[in-house]
Amino acid sequence: MATAHAESTTQTYDVLKYRKDFPILNQKVHGVPLVYLDNAATTQKPLSVIEAENKYYREYNANIHRGVHLLSQQATKAYEDARVKIQKFINAANSAEIIYTRGTTEGINLVAQTWGRKNVQAGDEILVSAMEHHSNIVPWQMLCEEKGAKLKVIPINDAGELLMDEFKKLVTSKTKLVAVTHVSNALGTINPIADIIQYAHSKGVLVLIDGAQSIPHIKVDVQALDCDFYAFSGHKIYAPTGIGVLYGKYKLLDAMPPYQGGGDMIASVTFEKTTYAKLPNKFEAGTPHIAGVIGLGAALDYVSAIGVDRIAAHEHELLVYGTQALSKIKEIRIIGTAAMKAGVISFTLGEIHPHDIGTILDKQGVAIRAGHHCAQPVMERFDIPATARASFGLYNVKEEIDVLVTAIQKTLEVFA
Ligand code: ALA
Repeated sequence: MATAHAESTTQTYDVLKYRKDFPILNQKVHGVPLVYLDNAATTQKPLSVIEAENKYYREYNANIHRGVHLLSQQATKAYEDARVKIQKFINAANSAEIIYTRGTTEGINLVAQTWGRKNVQAGDEILVSAMEHHSNIVPWQMLCEEKGAKLKVIPINDAGELLMDEFKKLVTSKTKLVAVTHVSNALGTINPIADIIQYAHSKGVLVLIDGAQSIPHIKVDVQALDCDFYAFSGHKIYAPTGIGVLYGKYKLLDAMPPYQGGGDMIASVTFEKTTYAKLPNKFEAGTPHIAGVIGLGAALDYVSAIGVDRIAAHEHELLVYGTQALSKIKEIRIIGTAAMKAGVISFTLGEIHPHDIGTILDKQGVAIRAGHHCAQPVMERFDIPATARASFGLYNVKEEIDVLVTAIQKTLEVFA
């Protein structure tokens, strides 16, 4: 296994110091120390993020873009400064290409309902992969149903890797968009999105990347990738819930109709005609999650100070250690064994239902996710109803994986 940044060193990675930044980790659940291994569902928040939100509400809570008073100006500045931080974090060419959303799901729905409704016609095709989260399937199904277009699916192999030859065959003159995940939430697979984007573009097809699971683990450069859209959620990268980002190329966003109508997205309104604001405001109707935006800016500062490459290298060590340790348990079947993986280990344990695994692990302090992970087609592909999933964050340590292994062995004893 390898990550995109395997060259990074972990020698100076002071994980015990970073753990102290996350107060929630220092607690007992059911009388035993918490081992939090559900980072693909949501990450914990460092003190700097909690304090940034707290400071906004305590010291300068006001609406943005509206008031001439000082607090409003301070809030507006913090809100727009965060946009520039995000622009730099993903290396977008222009901060107006950063659209605030509620999360990845809303970003993808925004593209489907604006770009999609304008550009997709009957008989057109949209390509997704067999490992997509429901949020990168259902919005396209809804669009295809409305327009009489067709959703096509790139198949995957038994390791959970995209079949690139099949992908190339599926791109036809009817294909309008390829919408793929960068990293699979259910399998951990890192997809070769640079190759996908290059090939799609050679056929004149746009590409949307679901970055929900890659943003905390892989350094993303949207200009180098040349993706047309890239959506991610703040809460997967140590920021608050309810805030996310849609990146889109300026020309595309500029040509798209608005998503929602309301305040802050207009240039002028009369009952006869409304003209819309310029980017990014055109897509940000209504009072946004200002505190969440400020928290997201603080989270990106936090992650950048450690370094995404160093975090990736640390998580890769955990992935290798965890995969080796879990593989020694003969009842375990790891679902998702791609050559390129992020820090996600999905598994089944004999005939024990993953919900039972999750419940018994919880009693031993270990938090994992059990279920279909909002990726039912992946479960169907592997002919299983669900998996148990351990997923790593920047603060996890090998000792926690040892606790997981012991807890799994106890689970087996309960069901023996
Ligand atoms: N999509 C998130 C997960 O995989 C919620 O757990």
